[in-house]
Amino acid sequence: MTHEEQMVEQGLKTIDEARQGSVLYKEAWEETAAPGDKRFYIESYGCQMNFSDSEIVAAILREIGYAPTRNIEESDLILINTCSIREKAEETVRKRLRVFETVKKQRPGALVGVLGCMAERLKKRFLEEEKLVDLVVGPDAYRDLPNLIGGAEEGQRMVNVLLSREETYADISPVRLDSNGVTAFISIMRGCDNMCSFCVVPFTRGRERSRDPFSIVAEAQDLFARGYREVTLLGQNVDSYKWENPETGAVVNFAQLLEMVAQTHPRLRVRFSTSHPKDMTDEVLHTMARYDNICKYIHLPVQSGNSRILALMNRTYDRPWYEERIRAIRRILPEAAVSSDIIAGFCTETEEEHQDTLSIIEWANFSMSYMFAYSERPGTLAARKYADDVPEEVKKRRLNEIIRLQTAVSLRHNQADIGKTFEVLIEGDSRRSSRDFCGRNSQNKMVVFPKKENLKPGDYVHVRIHDATSATLLGEIV
Ligand code: 5AD
Ligand code: SF4
Repeated sequence: MTHEEQMVEQGLKTIDEARQGSVLYKEAWEETAAPGDKRFYIESYGCQMNFSDSEIVAAILREIGYAPTRNIEESDLILINTCSIREKAEETVRKRLRVFETVKKQRPGALVGVLGCMAERLKKRFLEEEKLVDLVVGPDAYRDLPNLIGGAEEGQRMVNVLLSREETYADISPVRLDSNGVTAFISIMRGCDNMCSFCVVPFTRGRERSRDPFSIVAEAQDLFARGYREVTLLGQNVDSYKWENPETGAVVNFAQLLEMVAQTHPRLRVRFSTSHPKDMTDEVLHTMARYDNICKYIHLPVQSGNSRILALMNRTYDRPWYEERIRAIRRILPEAAVSSDIIAGFCTETEEEHQDTLSIIEWANFSMSYMFAYSERPGTLAARKYADDVPEEVKKRRLNEIIRLQTAVSLRHNQADIGKTFEVLIEGDSRRSSRDFCGRNSQNKMVVFPKKENLKPGDYVHVRIHDATSATLLGEIV
């Protein structure tokens, strides 16, 4: 797998892939458009949280008469929801802004806005150097969009990058963009209080705060009523979800929230992401075991297999702790799949320490991983304290070794499923052929199988697996 292919697999969508959403986007547009509406065009980069935020932005814009369009040339407002996690993500955004510049020449009245994680970091530069940018809006300031757009329409350059300690957008009902009508994200918390030394997120998204659980359950119920059959609860660190009832003082933790959402309906699947090894409790694992509709899949990023590097990363666990968490999963949820995030070539990483990362991939038997070369981010703990001293070629070579091993482990993991039968939720046509459906099993593996009559996206089917690649299971409805 090339790195580019890997990015696509990870849902770090390429621009082309984002554009392929046009048909679905049109549906969203038709659903929400009224005569005289203005149109906005939005591109999103980065994590699932960012895609989820774009749906909140769409809901706020709808209130002021903007409907989504997938045709940039007919848009009155061009938005880019940005990511800062690695340098490459930021480069992509800059390239896209050059493209928007040519569009704007043909549509002089159109406004261009930069949203999301790059806003805070680069507000000065955007407004001073990027003459085409009219709006810069940080992730906690989307409610201010109507006001900011108003100012920009009058020719002012508008900025709001204030981070909040309270904002969760709890009362906003997201407009689903690029949706398959079957699976949806629900954001359950914002920000992050972990100080992983490599990570820019605490700076771009601010302090951690949890959303009112009743608004989360209401959103899940509404989605189910509209035909959705799977929700993914999103947070940077879902295990530290904690909501205190302001009236009674009663506290809801993540395990309890998971149970509340699972009780929405037995036919509504529940997933969540991301878990942190230091916080993932047995209580959560036992809750998962009690409910068939909570998917048996945990994304539990290890980052490195070496305890010294984990300490430098400020992950606050070591390798034995991580291994113990994996054992707990095997004990309580024997059928669960576990996936990971891995960083190659963090500051001062030696060859032996890199070998430890390879060995934990093998030992933990990850079903898949998102794998990255370390990219120093300005302002982070690591940028201030440690030298980014692993040469670029060495990082690349280590990353390639990690990808090669993970691909082999994923293939082995998938081949072990041959002969098994899984319940699969149909998501839509497979990418390759309209004669095949695709959908996921509980373990989050993509399953492709020939269609049968009277079945549609949103239906559950049982599929027996007869073949596997490192990324997909192939089967037949039984
Ligand atoms: N360089 C490389 N990878 C990073 N990640 C976060 N920050 C960096 C960085 N500076 C990775 C981590 C995280 C995932 C979302 O992105 O693996 O879990
Ligand atoms: Fe998401 Fe982090 Fe990128 Fe922000 S910087 S979009 S939180 S991955």
